[in-house]
Amino acid sequence: MEYVLEAEGLGKRFARQWALRDCTIRLPAGHVAALVGPNGAGKSTLLHLVVGLSRPDAGTLRVLGAAPYENKEVLPGVGFVAQDTPLYRDFSADDLVRTGARLNRHWDDDLARPRLAQLGIPPRKPVGRLSGGQRRRLDVAIGIVGRPELLFLDEPTVGFDPSARRDFHDLVHRLADVDDTTILLTTHDLDEAEKLADRILILNNGEIIADGSADQLSLRIAGQSEIRWTRDGSRFVHSAADATAFVRELFAQHGAGIADLEVRRASLEETYMTLVHDAERAL
Ligand SMILES: Nc1ncnc2c1ncn2[C@@H]1O[C@H](COP(=O)(O)OP(=O)(O)OP(=O)(O)O)[C@@H](O)[C@H]1O
Ligand SMILES: [Mg+2]
Repeated sequence: MEYVLEAEGLGKRFARQWALRDCTIRLPAGHVAALVGPNGAGKSTLLHLVVGLSRPDAGTLRVLGAAPYENKEVLPGVGFVAQDTPLYRDFSADDLVRTGARLNRHWDDDLARPRLAQLGIPPRKPVGRLSGGQRRRLDVAIGIVGRPELLFLDEPTVGFDPSARRDFHDLVHRLADVDDTTILLTTHDLDEAEKLADRILILNNGEIIADGSADQLSLRIAGQSEIRWTRDGSRFVHSAADATAFVRELFAQHGAGIADLEVRRASLEETYMTLVHDAERAL
């Protein structure tokens, strides 16, 4: 299998403290993964390593086939939206797009302008006079406009209004489905993670404590599923570890009398809380 991102035993240290420890992640082309975890878990640290802004202190890292810190020539294939982006305040969105075009050989102006419009960014206003959410949209536009093969987004939707958020979700789906872009994004919004990503990575205290689809992760916790139904006009709720066995028994007893059956597995939020809490307790 060909991986566009391969990290093995990856570590990063600030002074004596390891911010990232023994992280192993493999992303095949076309995957959309969400990296979630508490404040200070090491998400931004990890993204800075994979986009070649800093050098790992342990392990190996290959991005588009090369170590990104030492091989900056892979970077035109990589898009990055940082958590905090310093921008030239006097520049307009249009100026920034033109500057980006000069810096990035993969830049596509015909793609850039409609994208700015699509993201609702006024093209001529100085960046310093845009609202917080508009500025964030511009960060995202600049990150994607070079047609990267591999895109890293650090909390891209912070400050987005509900409609900007929805536009962004459509954009991510389109980038993944139409352009085959591989995407790793961080978010604190677990609904967003579940909506966008086919794979969830949970980082806690510098370590990956879970990696899989939301469904796979929820199977890892000894979760109770919630079963709801009505019988003879009355509503019932029950929690069971084995929902299938419970429902089988329910039908054996009441058959056609059962209506409006719903089974709800643990949500990603419950799974996240349980896994992070267990990892903290194990320290
Ligand atoms: N330049 C730095 N110098 C020293 N320590 C740092 C530096 N950058 C990050 N750290 C530390 O590394 C740890 C991980 O920080 P990081 O920014 O990667 O967390 P994060 O998961 O992105 O958190 P958040 O959700 O708040 O953005 C924290 O303990 C932080 O204090
Ligand atoms: Mg961060």
